[in-house]
Amino acid sequence: MSIPQSIDTQNLPHHVAIIMDGNGRWARKHGKVRTFGHKHGVTAVRDTTEAAAEMGIKFLTLYAFSAENWNRPRIEINALMELLIQTISKETKTLNDNNIRLQAIGDLDSLPKSCVRQLDDSIASTSDNTRMTLILALSYSARWEIVRAARRLAEAAAAGSVDPARVDEKMFSEYLATAGIPDPELLIRTSGEYRISNFLLWQIAYTELYFTDKLWPDFRREDFFDAIESYQKRERRFGDVNPKTPAQR
Ligand code: IPE
Ligand code: IPE
Ligand code: MG
Repeated sequence: MSIPQSIDTQNLPHHVAIIMDGNGRWARKHGKVRTFGHKHGVTAVRDTTEAAAEMGIKFLTLYAFSAENWNRPRIEINALMELLIQTISKETKTLNDNNIRLQAIGDLDSLPKSCVRQLDDSIASTSDNTRMTLILALSYSARWEIVRAARRLAEAAAAGSVDPARVDEKMFSEYLATAGIPDPELLIRTSGEYRISNFLLWQIAYTELYFTDKLWPDFRREDFFDAIESYQKRERRFGDVNPKTPAQR
């Protein structure tokens, strides 16, 4: 695969996060049931993951199922869980062939046992891979993650192993599900929705946001490249002034 000339491979984000939205609308557009859209979403996952790995992105986080998605009809949830098990089981070999490590964040205990088993197997089998880490957010809620971190810190403080006066942003981050993973520099959301839907609230404090009208099942590597190009045109200031004049340095 060739990476477009317009992309500066020296200035890639280390971590890209994606809110994969629009499967249901894609299905409706094609006169099919919602599940059909989820199935086609897998093609977009495959294409995007391949493109990210080939480009040299180190972490790709995909929002696959939110804690709020448990409110959907049982039949859709069951189909999603089934699709998840099948896809992970089918794709583990490809992940290994491409040196990609699989991880998961979220309230994994709330997933069906068969799903957890498949996930654990694939995570273990890919754990030594080093080219890219693919992180699936499953039964994930950013507020749940932040509250869990606060609870764990409070427990550690109560047990005497953490000094409350020493709790800072760095220590707090280590209690999050994303401990050890750099914050995403770029967040992509498909389907024309302009919201975060409880995804990585802590981690996206200074992330560049990219929204596209494409529905997730139609998203391909070219769309991923467009997002990277847009990211590379942005000026990230982090509250500072830029460019700095010599006098300001
Ligand atoms: C995203 O597509 C996939 C999941 C949330 C699991 P949706 O299922 O939300 O599709 P729309 O937003 O209804 O089109
Ligand atoms: C966000 O999409 C969650 C995932 C993509 C897994 P939703 O479709 O669930 O979000 P809302 O309901 O539009 O906010
Ligand atoms: Mg949606």
